[in-house]
Amino acid sequence: MRNLSEQILLDKMERPIGIFDSGIGGVTVLNEIIKILPNEEYIYYSDSANNPYGDKQDKEIIKLCENIVKQFIGKNCKAIVIACNTASAKAVKYLRKKYPKIIFIAIEPAYKMVHDYAYNEPTLVMATKGTIKSEKFNLLFHKYNNHKTYLLSCVGLADLIENGDKKELEKYLKKTLGLYKGLVKNVVLGCTHYPLIQKEIGQVLGKNIKFFNGANRLAIHLKDVLEERNLLNTNGKSGIVEFIDSSGKKEKQERFYKFLDIEYEGD
Ligand code: DGL
Repeated sequence: MRNLSEQILLDKMERPIGIFDSGIGGVTVLNEIIKILPNEEYIYYSDSANNPYGDKQDKEIIKLCENIVKQFIGKNCKAIVIACNTASAKAVKYLRKKYPKIIFIAIEPAYKMVHDYAYNEPTLVMATKGTIKSEKFNLLFHKYNNHKTYLLSCVGLADLIENGDKKELEKYLKKTLGLYKGLVKNVVLGCTHYPLIQKEIGQVLGKNIKFFNGANRLAIHLKDVLEERNLLNTNGKSGIVEFIDSSGKKEKQERFYKFLDIEYEGD
């Protein structure tokens, strides 16, 4: 029989981690997290009724994110991962101020990683218009600017990935990326949807492109934060992922579990 304080500690550790994106793209972040934290329970929220976030006003994004955060708080989540660069850029400052007790871990374009590992190489940062224009990204960009960087707002790209139309996607990539072929050596995948089409981007830009994605770093940071606060689930249970989509469309769930690296038995 456990004593009361052991039980309280166990309950604390076993609370789920909430993770969200404007759609299914955040699965690329969740996959990295699960590699590092396989024993946790996750609730993934895909806000596809309201995507894309990339072209929305700051106020609207903040409202949408707060609505999701409230749902996670209602589900007693021990941490909230913002697996959307646009939402992080626009809303995390507000959310951290308004909910100081909640742990927020937020993705951002891996531009610092370029500075650390490939500073001298010409670089293309691909992200949504919202991310590229945001104050948060601009601070990061000016801090680590290598003066050989192209910033590309990929309007509509997350939507194409979300919907999975391969022909349209190919056309889009050829048209928008073709001119960077031979010009850049690094690509920052600054939207969580883009790692899903890394291969296709490489096909347009050439074989030797180095890709930079912040998801692995985020996962390590999440683990460190939970460990520091004694919140890691050390109970040895294997990861469960609950999927919620605001549009309620069944195909979202199917595509999400298709991209998730763990086995899912379906319902
Ligand atoms: N996946 C989101 C990001 O990382 C954006 C997609 C959208 O525009 O909704 O920025």
